[in-house]
Amino acid sequence: MTTSDRHGRAVARAGANFALVKYWGKADERLNVPAVGSISITLDALFTETEVELAPKQRSDEIVLDGKRRDEDLAKITACVDLLRRKAGIDTRVRVASRNNFPTGAGLASSASGFAALVRAAEAAFGLTLSPRERSIVARQGSGSAARSIFGGFVEMHAGSAPDGSDSFAEPLLESTAWPLEVVIAVTAKGEKEVGSRSGMTRSASSSPYYAAWVAGQPPDLAAGRAAIRARDFAALADVAEHNCLKMHAAALAARPPLVYWNGATVECLHAVRRLRAGGVPVFFTIDAGPQLKAVCAPGARAEVERTLRAVPGVLELLASTLGRGAELR
Ligand code: DP6
Repeated sequence: MTTSDRHGRAVARAGANFALVKYWGKADERLNVPAVGSISITLDALFTETEVELAPKQRSDEIVLDGKRRDEDLAKITACVDLLRRKAGIDTRVRVASRNNFPTGAGLASSASGFAALVRAAEAAFGLTLSPRERSIVARQGSGSAARSIFGGFVEMHAGSAPDGSDSFAEPLLESTAWPLEVVIAVTAKGEKEVGSRSGMTRSASSSPYYAAWVAGQPPDLAAGRAAIRARDFAALADVAEHNCLKMHAAALAARPPLVYWNGATVECLHAVRRLRAGGVPVFFTIDAGPQLKAVCAPGARAEVERTLRAVPGVLELLASTLGRGAELR
């Protein structure tokens, strides 16, 4: 049964995504246009499911995340839903009930899957039909990485250059079934991170001496990432993804005050993954604005990667996923 109906209610699910060539920095804060393009993979086992229901009697939107009211998130969500209200030509408020099946705000891409699911559900609740590109543009204004969770598999986000952000959207690069990589996430801390991506980016841009080099180095990394994915060249993708991740963190570490997203276990996991690869196991790591390490491996290598990461002191839990589909109505 589809829950999108004429009564102004819809439910959508979107998978989390992780960037292999990362988004870090903004060209336009108001339109949330990234300073750099990025390349990501969308996961199927970590997702957000969001219900949007029109609430004609309410004067403001309402958001409940994992059963708790989140008034602190209301302004961002209202601003994103406003874009769709404007397209639909209506002013009705909405009730949003959202659930993540993974820890929220701990560097596990909850804003990516969250805004992608929100946009997909709100679009249907308002009776709109957007193209995937339009969805991606709206989701970007909620959270940059959410523009990518509109699509499944391997995805590229274009930074764009139009002043209105109209060419700043994601599009699919390769379907998940064409190269079924797997992901093992080593959770090394629970709870929300200290400095979110948004303020981390602003701080890096304004105070890191390496920020300009980070931005300048992105086009060749994007070209290398794109070529590696098109050729299904694991070694080439591992090389560019680890290099790009460490450059992002180098820029963040050099900010003032510094942004140290890693803990000791993150670093031990990084070494463990590199040792595995040196021993012939097809695996590489990436780390976002939090202490969790994401290991990406070829099918068949997952059991060994799990065994190795589980043995690293400080690893609290492992999550595993294959690649998944884009945001869809339920
Ligand atoms: C380190 O998409 O969370 O995960 O656009 O401000 O909401 P906002 O930022 P967000 O940043 C993600 C940063 C990252 C790298 C990435 O996903 O590309």
